[in-house]
Amino acid sequence: IPVDAFDLVIFGGTGDLARRKILPGLFRRFLAGQMPAEARIIGVARSELDDEGYRTEARAAILEFAGEEATDRESLDAFLGTLRYLVVDARGEGGWPELAALMRADVVRAFYLSVSPALFGDIAGRLHQHGIADKASRIVVEKPFGRDLASARALNASLAEHFDEGQIYRIDHYLGKETVQNLMAVRFGNVLFEPLWNSHYVDHVQITVAETVGVGGRGEYYDRSGAMRDMVQNHLMQLLCLIAMEPPSQFDADAVRDEKLKVIRALQPVDYHQIVRGQYDAGQGTPSYRQDVENPRTHTESFVALKTHIANWRWAGVPFYLRTGKRLKGRVSEIAVVFKDLGHSIFEGDEKRHRNILSIRLQPNEGIDLQVTIKEPGPGGMRLIDVPLDMTFADALGPERNDVSDAYERLIMDVIRGNQTLFMRGDEVEAAWAWTDPIIDGWQARNDVPKHYDTGSPGPEDALMLMHRDGRRWREIRG
Ligand code: BG6
Repeated sequence: IPVDAFDLVIFGGTGDLARRKILPGLFRRFLAGQMPAEARIIGVARSELDDEGYRTEARAAILEFAGEEATDRESLDAFLGTLRYLVVDARGEGGWPELAALMRADVVRAFYLSVSPALFGDIAGRLHQHGIADKASRIVVEKPFGRDLASARALNASLAEHFDEGQIYRIDHYLGKETVQNLMAVRFGNVLFEPLWNSHYVDHVQITVAETVGVGGRGEYYDRSGAMRDMVQNHLMQLLCLIAMEPPSQFDADAVRDEKLKVIRALQPVDYHQIVRGQYDAGQGTPSYRQDVENPRTHTESFVALKTHIANWRWAGVPFYLRTGKRLKGRVSEIAVVFKDLGHSIFEGDEKRHRNILSIRLQPNEGIDLQVTIKEPGPGGMRLIDVPLDMTFADALGPERNDVSDAYERLIMDVIRGNQTLFMRGDEVEAAWAWTDPIIDGWQARNDVPKHYDTGSPGPEDALMLMHRDGRRWREIRG
């Protein structure tokens, strides 16, 4: 869908996110013909640069991060022509009148706050005070959206002073992933799954987001957050909502977000026996978590596994197991819906437990896989085996139709189109913190020490036990 002409102002225009994701993503949309000729991108930061200086920086970033597409130099030059730059002081007066003068009437105005959340309120206020933002403008913010309920509320309040909820786009980049949207298409676009999508047929659901990377250069931020705040409160929570929510009456922003919110509010508190925290040790030539964050005594977790329930009719008694961690055996993001055993088997002598499992792979190798039971071919009688009905999207659709665009570029285009469906509403974020806070407070109160796990492992032993105790097991993380 084409987008209208826009002025996109990126606060933190020289920062890491702009360099790695925003500018390369916009360039890819430009190549895809999705940027209207009148679109402009205005980088704003404190560095003393002019338009040309900013273009030079942007060129370097795009060459580094946009992949092969960046080799199209002619297009790159044309794209860089849409860039402007202004020195603006978020907390002072400098640069604001110039920004006001640069903005055009009659185009969509979007303000991407790729800066510390501590500046959200200041910037929102000045945009308003200088008449730069109007009722039709959009403001885009990034996580961390608070570190607990109180700080999230304060951030929401500081934005709400100047912008209506309908203008605020809170990014959770997991919602921009192609397969996350496919989750809704699969659930609500097929007659096959929805009748089985409840406690009568589903034994449990497991959600895994495993990473092989460590905390890299983000040690300072990460050590103050930990996996619970960094991944569970937002990304895993969003996946859980999309899997568990009731069918919205239509695919529009508030209908979808109303249903997600109900799921979060129905989440039961997590008993501390049902949650395992971990921290990676050194191994395979890489440092330990403590070395990575340069904090030898830290008790912050780089791994979490937990079991929770959703207290409503659909999911009564169905456990949801969530796990995420860094420096694990493989990189995989997957949701698996594990169906119940057959009530009665007519096949004598077949003692193996056969189960239908629907797994949705978000990355890598996006696709959907349904485990079904069939007869083992050959004359050996009625022997049953489980085989995958595997649909890897790249194979099913062919490379040219398998859209590889990045989550960010998809979401930024949605901002310009004014579609909030894939953005978190303020009440959702607060509800997610309200569920997360007691878990983190409990750790602090008990002075909880995370379990150690080996780099390249599936996580601490206790996380395996969390499932074994219930007679279940995690799906394998393939290396
Ligand atoms: C970010 C977290 O939000 O998501 C990172 O802060 C994490 O710690 C990243 O590595 C994972 O995203 P993706 O898209 O690589 O799965």
